Amino acid sequence: MIRGVKVVVDNTFAPMVLSPARLGADVVVHSISKFISGGADIIAGAVCGPANLVNSMMDLQHGALMLLGPTMNAKVAFELSERIPHLALRMKEHCHRAMVYATKMKKLGLKVIYPGLEDHPQHELLKSMANKEYGFGGLLCIDMETEEKANRLMNHLQNCTQFGFMAVSLGYYETLMSCSGSSTSSELNDEEQALAGISPGLVRMSVGFVGTLAQKWSQFEKAFSRLQDSELYKN
Ligand SMILES: Cc1ncc(COP(=O)(O)O)c(C=O)c1O
Repeated sequence: MIRGVKVVVDNTFAPMVLSPARLGADVVVHSISKFISGGADIIAGAVCGPANLVNSMMDLQHGALMLLGPTMNAKVAFELSERIPHLALRMKEHCHRAMVYATKMKKLGLKVIYPGLEDHPQHELLKSMANKEYGFGGLLCIDMETEEKANRLMNHLQNCTQFGFMAVSLGYYETLMSCSGSSTSSELNDEEQALAGISPGLVRMSVGFVGTLAQKWSQFEKAFSRLQDSELYKN
């Protein structure tokens, strides 16, 4: 609790990497459909907080969760319990590959936004808050400047070299990519997007871990060089 205000943190992007409750958050929420599940087959969520808060949300007459349906299907709960033991290993690999890609993409001359890179404005802050040995998260962004270039790159990555898939979700074992400005953040107007640092060509990438790193990186390089060879890139 900070100045009488309850702090709620959505930790969907960074399970294991960050432990908001240890850092003072009153309530931590997760979309379990993402990294925690690790597959694209479960829709679930979690609210983690003190018993009095959770109990009040489940109050028979007035609790929001009670009224909206908080009970997880028992089979789904069991399946999830089978995936939690390897969440740490999976997160380490998501984060490791994201760091390797971010470094290599930057060397190719791309504008990369990833908190693991030393030039990221919150690099030191995240380093001071994150649990050691997990890295800096499994999501990175490449700023391709225009939506056309972003779409062309994603198209090559998905359809020519099989590097990943175009999808707005995250936390999957395959790499997922989306152009945030025209998908997940399209409800924001141009000014709000600019304030949030979302350029029209921003490609958000949730880094997966299937295949070898060398194989995956060569798929990325091939798609990028194809893009560079196209007229669009030369103009
Ligand atoms: C940070 C974050 N929190 C919560 C959600 C909601 O997830 P769900 O659709 O599983 O409820 C999403 C979905 O993309 C998300 O990105």
